[in-house]
Amino acid sequence: MAGDTSGKNEPPDWYADGFDHVWLPYAQMKTATPPLPVVRTQGSRIVLADGRELIDGVASWWTACHGYNQPHIRHVVAKQLKQMPHVMFGGLAHEPALTLARRLSALLPGDLSRVFFCDSGSVAVEVALKMAAQYWINRGVKGRGQFVAFKGGYHGDTSGAMAVSDTEDGMHALFVGLLTQHHIVDLPDDDAKTAALDKLLAENADAIAGIIVEPLVQGAGGMKFHDGAVLKRLRALADKYDVLLIFDEVFTGFGRAGTMFACEAAGVTPDIVALSKALTGGTLPLAATVATKKVFDAFWSDDPKKALMHGPSYMANALGCAAANASLDLFDSEPRLQQVAAISSALLQGLAPCRGGRGVKDVRVKGAIGVVEMERIDNPDALRARFVEEGVFVRPFGNIIYVTPAFTIASDELKTLTDAVVKIVNELKR
Ligand SMILES: Cc1ncc(COP(=O)(O)O)c(C=O)c1O
Repeated sequence: MAGDTSGKNEPPDWYADGFDHVWLPYAQMKTATPPLPVVRTQGSRIVLADGRELIDGVASWWTACHGYNQPHIRHVVAKQLKQMPHVMFGGLAHEPALTLARRLSALLPGDLSRVFFCDSGSVAVEVALKMAAQYWINRGVKGRGQFVAFKGGYHGDTSGAMAVSDTEDGMHALFVGLLTQHHIVDLPDDDAKTAALDKLLAENADAIAGIIVEPLVQGAGGMKFHDGAVLKRLRALADKYDVLLIFDEVFTGFGRAGTMFACEAAGVTPDIVALSKALTGGTLPLAATVATKKVFDAFWSDDPKKALMHGPSYMANALGCAAANASLDLFDSEPRLQQVAAISSALLQGLAPCRGGRGVKDVRVKGAIGVVEMERIDNPDALRARFVEEGVFVRPFGNIIYVTPAFTIASDELKTLTDAVVKIVNELKR
């Protein structure tokens, strides 16, 4: 039973009985370190079945921006649960979804004003790609099915999203021959790369539907940062060659990179933006693909064939939309972006001792993202276990140790987190 703490090192019955029937994410099931049984979460704490409490350094894959069990979100979701957990969105509409669509449109820059709801970041990306491809079809332009995307990029695990991720070095390299081929190129972060991208577009624009990028931070591809100038160049090139610009803000949206959306920091409005993760404050699965009027207008027609033929069963789930509205209330009523700025300073200071020395390639911080890039990490699983011994949950991948805490993490909790990173990085340096 959940909460069973009998026998300090014995897993609870539900764990022992169920474990052989579950298939874990991103894990070699034969050799992976078994996951930790969790019975409760609160704030920035994860409580394990044996009673241990871990300070969470990941915020559940960057979703739980207000910390766990946030009272306002719980209250709003509980109320919605009583009234109507879900109703299909085909032919029916409801207040939480329409209110959320209105609020997202008001928050996003420019005329990003049409919100298509779905249920995960990967699907939000699929919808963005489909919208972009159909934008051209609807306008009577044939053959524009390819995308430009970037090395080091990651856009999700479904086939369309895999195909615009880094298919060479990324986690989906195995599938390279099976996926649609796109142009996966260097981010234009200097003149030579900008010229190369300009040339590629000059030669291929009539086959290209759009450019897709994770603005400011390439997350799962290695926590790599670039600045707003790169995005300005992409906007200029997209305009010059008349291709659509898609921002995948699944990771960066809702404050993670320092501003509410990364596109704001860069002063660039994309044609389509994908949102998910922190949209519901980490409580329920929900995502949104938001299009500008220009994109939407290409679908506005008396011709039924010009409709966007997409509609996941759980799209605009009422509980998820209620949670997202509650999450936006908290961004309005609490100083979240100031908290992100304070976390940024604390991460810079707290992780500084990791700099230099054997094995450390780089230490960097953007918004509430702190990264220690190692030359290599031989055994990320063992490293994760070492973090647990220090009382924190951190999930290294590739050669990256990173922390992305909740924006509400207490300063002493954040210090425990960065101290643990410094201690363990020092052990790796030996
Ligand atoms: C930038 C980006 N896009 C898309 C996704 C996929 O989102 P999901 O895991 O919700 O499908 C992720 C997930 O990490 C992401 O970081």
